Amino acid sequence: MSQWWKEAVVYQIYPRSFYDSNGDGFGDLQGVIQKLDYIKSLGADVIWLCPVFDSPQDDNGYDISDYRSIYEKFGTNDDMFQLIDEVHKRGMKIIMDLVVNHTSDEHAWFAESRKSKDNPYRDYYFWKDPKADGSEPNNWGSIFSGSAWTFDERTGQYYLHYFSKKQPDLNWENEAVRREVYDLMTFWMDRGVDGWRMDVIGSISKYVDFPDYETDDSRPYVVGRYHSNGPRLHEFIQEMNREVLSRYNCMTVGEANGSDVEEAKKYTDPSRHELNMIFTFEHMDIDTKQHSPNGKWQMKPFDPIALKKTMTRWQTALMNVGWNTLYFENHDQPRVISRWGNDRELRKQCAKAFATVLHGMKGTPFIYQGEEIGMTNSKMPLEMYDDLEIKNAYRELVIENKTMTKEDFRKAVAKKGRDHARTPMQWDDGKHAGFTAGEPWLAVNPRYQEINVKESLADEDSIFYYYQKLIGLRKQNKVIVYGDYRLLLGDDPQIFAYTREYQGEKLLVAVNLSEEKALFHAPPELLEDKWDVLLSNYARERLDISGSIDMEPYEAFMVISRAKDSTS
Ligand code: NOJ
Repeated sequence: MSQWWKEAVVYQIYPRSFYDSNGDGFGDLQGVIQKLDYIKSLGADVIWLCPVFDSPQDDNGYDISDYRSIYEKFGTNDDMFQLIDEVHKRGMKIIMDLVVNHTSDEHAWFAESRKSKDNPYRDYYFWKDPKADGSEPNNWGSIFSGSAWTFDERTGQYYLHYFSKKQPDLNWENEAVRREVYDLMTFWMDRGVDGWRMDVIGSISKYVDFPDYETDDSRPYVVGRYHSNGPRLHEFIQEMNREVLSRYNCMTVGEANGSDVEEAKKYTDPSRHELNMIFTFEHMDIDTKQHSPNGKWQMKPFDPIALKKTMTRWQTALMNVGWNTLYFENHDQPRVISRWGNDRELRKQCAKAFATVLHGMKGTPFIYQGEEIGMTNSKMPLEMYDDLEIKNAYRELVIENKTMTKEDFRKAVAKKGRDHARTPMQWDDGKHAGFTAGEPWLAVNPRYQEINVKESLADEDSIFYYYQKLIGLRKQNKVIVYGDYRLLLGDDPQIFAYTREYQGEKLLVAVNLSEEKALFHAPPELLEDKWDVLLSNYARERLDISGSIDMEPYEAFMVISRAKDSTS
């Protein structure tokens, strides 16, 4: 099978917030079709479409009630077939979101399952008796707060849900469940879908003895190591590969919660026949204080050294085994410039700086809608957030457990709340940023008049064109796709610099990730080479790396040294 996904750049669409073609305030598939030429012009070759299947939308479509039909606000199955076709016509590919750790509680399987203990669908989910005192079967927590178990009066048992109680977990131990999943995958792949992003795939295998977590604090419910990497995880993925994936020339990327590099090798080593690549959370967790009852909301300041260390660990570990994803943003991870950088007076430089760090690395880059124009986190009072993760966490941490003050929670949500990634795409400076002719389901970011696609396309120095160049450089230079990675200046608190090497070519990437100037000194072994500037966000045409370089705030550059014999 060809490995086209190694040379690809992916553009992620969160359809409800992308473009609304019919004025109901909710993005749709026809809206995506209308914007395909825009994505193509950026240079991306693959689209990852977040879930568009039928769903009560408790978790914005990550709660699916029918895997074979499209949610009506997004359109129809025919719209989806048309989208696949239009994507292919433009020489691009499309992957969908496979959400099969859980379904919606409104899925027909769960409706059956909850009816009686002897229903044929009972074992599609996990049902357990209460403990003797009536409480939950164990102390596992839901990632969206509270217990991972909900009691169902009808049969007097609890069912398991790692996310909201409207997202019951599927029982992958049951072969019939696995068969259903493979069938629905085949259904879409036979209709042209080019692969899958697999939602919380790291959780599909459960520790079926359901051991309690040991706790040293007063937390009633814990989310921890039992929630991922269960004993049959890789066996299940290998089976899925055998039964479905191996029959298609497809791309697969697993959302691998709880994975470290050793786990990543298991997923992505091609000789194991599992997945092409995974999303790790390790580099996104560098601003979280570990082992706090407040989970991801317990923030610590951004530290470039921690980012370098973590990303380098992944670059190095997977260098000759497996493959990395490269991402800073998605629909769960808000705008990186607002979270770790400067989204005010240095917004443009900063967006280009983070883009350079990422797009110079080895792996498949993922661009999240709006990242390419430097969209920022929004301004919202707490009451305006829509996301159930935020609402539940507020209730649990601030109101019930009182482990966080309202002010600390507000600050954390301003940085990390998922809704910041979900505000409508800013197309122009008109009403609702040109996203909809109606009332948007979530308020548009008030900065839309300054930050929008129209403005970005009109400015030749824009973030959009910088991304376009980064993508173009990846297409033209194999060293960016395949080169070996080596970190430079590991202890420098401001500069993220590294080299890539491939068949005699060398790439040097240096980025000042701070608001202060920084001095860059190339290590002596690089001084013998002759370097040409590939890209610079401060319009430098020449760079003499033999001296020290006085880097401006958020300055980034990429220089290349061609193979010595390439001129002959
Ligand atoms: C990960 C998805 O990215 C997120 O948006 C969702 O809430 C959970 N999985 C549950 O499906």
